Amino acid sequence: MEDIAQFNISKLPKKISIRPFLKKDIDELLHLESLGFPPEERCSRETVEYRIANCPDLCQGLFVKNEDGNTQLIGEIMATKVDSEFITLKSMEIGQHKESSDVIAIHSVVIHPDYQGQNLARLLMTDYIQKMSQQSVGRKITIIVHEHLFKFYEKLGFVKLNENDDVNDPNSDFSKNGVWYNMDKELVEF
Ligand SMILES: CC(C)(COP(=O)(O)OP(=O)(O)OC[C@H]1O[C@@H](n2cnc3c(N)ncnc32)[C@H](O)[C@@H]1OP(=O)(O)O)[C@@H](O)C(=O)NCCC(=O)NCCS
Repeated sequence: MEDIAQFNISKLPKKISIRPFLKKDIDELLHLESLGFPPEERCSRETVEYRIANCPDLCQGLFVKNEDGNTQLIGEIMATKVDSEFITLKSMEIGQHKESSDVIAIHSVVIHPDYQGQNLARLLMTDYIQKMSQQSVGRKITIIVHEHLFKFYEKLGFVKLNENDDVNDPNSDFSKNGVWYNMDKELVEF
């Protein structure tokens, strides 16, 4: 993991692990979504269940083992594959994962507020990009972001593209918190 070597690893909690989500994680995952996003941008229980059942390897959790020995979910990436170059409102719906596509669409990235600012999102994303590249899962990763996160994703190698006209539909609640832009990362080892 070359990129991770550049991290200030002294900031990372000691006992962390990353793995695909399991059914037993769903309540914690929904709680994390509620900490990360306003109601209109959160995944529903049904959506989470669908994604974990249909594309488990695209949905990864970051866990920490606390001093009491319990494991807590502190980070998530939720994604599907889409049959277009960019995310659409339709592509976020249940039933829309396209296994044969080579475009991975990340729908959520969240780090628990108590653990933000410790390079954990960068760790989780770098690990994810490496896994998707090495396992030849797709040609690129696409994501939609608001402007304040351009820098965060640029540091991970994403390129800022155009506004996403489909998800910016003014008739959709999804657009009410600001303009959504497409950002892409090509996966080099594909
Ligand atoms: C965005 C989010 C995932 C970042 O998590 P984090 O663990 O605090 O991020 P990291 O500590 O790994 O930050 C990595 C780098 O990005 C930068 N960064 C992190 N959040 C940033 C932000 N909101 N704006 C600008 N830069 C940011 C950091 O400064 C750091 O850069 P550095 O290494 O040069 O100092 C977290 O704030 C979060 O969960 N937000 C709510 C949900 C959300 O908006 N998700 C993203 C859209 S799907």
